[in-house]
Amino acid sequence: MKYSISASVLALAASTTALPANKQHQKHAKRASPKVWLAGDSTMASGGGGSGTQGWGEYLQYSLSGATVENEARGGRSARSYTDEGRFDDIADQVSSGDIVVIEFGHNDGGSLSTTDNGRTDCAGDGDETCTTPDGLTVQTFVTYVTNAGKTFVDKGATVIVSSQTPNNPWEEGDFAYTGTRFVGYAETAATNIGDGAFYVDHGQYVANIFESLGKDEVDAFFPNDHTHTSPEGADHVAKAFVKAVLCADNDLAQYVSNSTSSVEGSCV
Ligand SMILES: *[C@@H]1O[C@H](CO)[C@@H](O)[C@H](O)[C@H]1NC(C)=O
Repeated sequence: MKYSISASVLALAASTTALPANKQHQKHAKRASPKVWLAGDSTMASGGGGSGTQGWGEYLQYSLSGATVENEARGGRSARSYTDEGRFDDIADQVSSGDIVVIEFGHNDGGSLSTTDNGRTDCAGDGDETCTTPDGLTVQTFVTYVTNAGKTFVDKGATVIVSSQTPNNPWEEGDFAYTGTRFVGYAETAATNIGDGAFYVDHGQYVANIFESLGKDEVDAFFPNDHTHTSPEGADHVAKAFVKAVLCADNDLAQYVSNSTSSVEGSCV
């Protein structure tokens, strides 16, 4: 099944902006053995972005008790290609009420559709815009893809965490510099659109703050090949930053974290 956006979904999306996305619903009661599904790209995936790197999703399990991580992230994917390949549908087919689905994209979502189409670039915009590729395909926005997937999971009784993408090495120019891409804002918008049952966490900001405090030498060593993909040690910090964000937001996943908020590196944003 391909997702398509309907007028009623858009109307709903427009009406759910009263509260910030991270405060939008009552927590689900803690449940025995939920699964935590991870949907994302190489920065989250098993095997990371190739030799010497690892995705942060591989380290999340160490901070959880009573919940099992199912890392379905795949290298090279965007919100669009993850949708088009049926990967959100595959998770939706397996998700149970009380499960948690983490959605984190952005690294492969940029680019232009004007002359070529790599199958990953989303239509620009933060609403229901559509674009047509040179081959005549209709492409939707990051916000539309993530909102549609998130609503499908929430309809199945799952909690959705829309997480902002990880930063590229914020020390690469010498001085520390972090500015979230537009997909950071889009992730928050998607969480708001999904509404009740969805939370936003600014994972990128939490990672950036930890990387700032660790300093250039240590952080440069986390990026052995390029400025995007981290070493296993770097990925463990990226996973911890996500856990800190979850604990600080006190969302549904927080009740399965075995670590206390104060014991996890970083500060609440
Ligand atoms: C939580 O504690 C476990 C066990 O000590 C450790 O492996 C994990 O990295 C910790 N998580 C965080 C986010 O600090």
